[in-house]
Amino acid sequence: MTIRPSSFQKLILNWFDKHGRKHFPWQHNKTPYRVWISEIMLQQTQVNTVIPYYQTFMQHFPDLKSLANAPLDQVLHLWAGLGYYTRARNLHRAAKMVMEQFNGQFPDNLAAIQTLPGIGPSTAGAIFSIALNQPAAILDGNVKRVLARFQGIAQSIKDKNTVDELWKWAKHYIPSKRCADYTQAMMDIGATVCTRSNPQCNLCPLNKHCIAYHQNMTHLIPVKQATKTLPVRTATFLILQHKGQVLLHKRPPMGIWGGLWSFPEIAGEPVNENIRTYCKQQLKLDVHPFNLLPSFRHTFSHYHLDIHPAIIPVKRLPIRIMEDELQIWYNPDEPKSLGLPKPIQVIMRELK
Ligand code: ADE
Repeated sequence: MTIRPSSFQKLILNWFDKHGRKHFPWQHNKTPYRVWISEIMLQQTQVNTVIPYYQTFMQHFPDLKSLANAPLDQVLHLWAGLGYYTRARNLHRAAKMVMEQFNGQFPDNLAAIQTLPGIGPSTAGAIFSIALNQPAAILDGNVKRVLARFQGIAQSIKDKNTVDELWKWAKHYIPSKRCADYTQAMMDIGATVCTRSNPQCNLCPLNKHCIAYHQNMTHLIPVKQATKTLPVRTATFLILQHKGQVLLHKRPPMGIWGGLWSFPEIAGEPVNENIRTYCKQQLKLDVHPFNLLPSFRHTFSHYHLDIHPAIIPVKRLPIRIMEDELQIWYNPDEPKSLGLPKPIQVIMRELK
């Protein structure tokens, strides 16, 4: 079942010519900057979600310099809703580093690309091969699945030994020409043919040589992890309302939703007494009893958050309204350009 790299590449590239995806916005006017932004957005997010964000981002930051010079708040605002906000902070930091350490030119060698924050070996390989058409291996989740099945590797793809072996195969097969098409093709096959469930093996260019296919093991490879149960936390979101406006706090730079705007919150389910005391002591606000909006769950990578949104009318504002760079009264009908996490955007829409 062994296959020479040149034969493997031929199968992949012929498939790409017929079936590869060639019309994503980042595949036109290709520059390292544009490819870099796309690869970061695509790291934990589906292509269809990414496309509109990518287009808006490019309108605001058409080149590296404009991103480096922008305030972080604006970058976070354009990222709001995509999740994993560390990606946006790293992009901004990396853009500044390129301006300072690489003379404003996105680095053109693999080792230097990997020194930038937020760029690991696979993302560096993707940028290097896709943008510069240079040989470099990638190993994202899709490619891991393709190679694990192809090579019949029935061990957990989380284990270091397995990852090392997969990297070895990824490097073994890379071509010296058409590197960009090859990388894109491997991702496309993983995303559209060699899918996690119900892979379309009859359409796969690799089926003749695929060990998992021949041994009827595609449903067993990659080996499934025992799904870990995430802990559940509960929070009451305090939607303090006054004359159509609601109070927002800017979250601390590190941690969940770092640097984004959210409602003040207290741990646990809504209890009138707790809410009143919190509003009085922490926010210096006298409030009426609350009304609940339907609660819902938002899942982060490490825990579920059960959110209880409580609408709390404020009796009167203090004479001097505290409004500074960490707190703002916000009108949902006339939104300012603030970075709001997805669940906050959803609640704002309900408030309108
Ligand atoms: N996921 C990560 N990178 C991608 C790319 N270049 N095209 C499609 N999906 C991707």
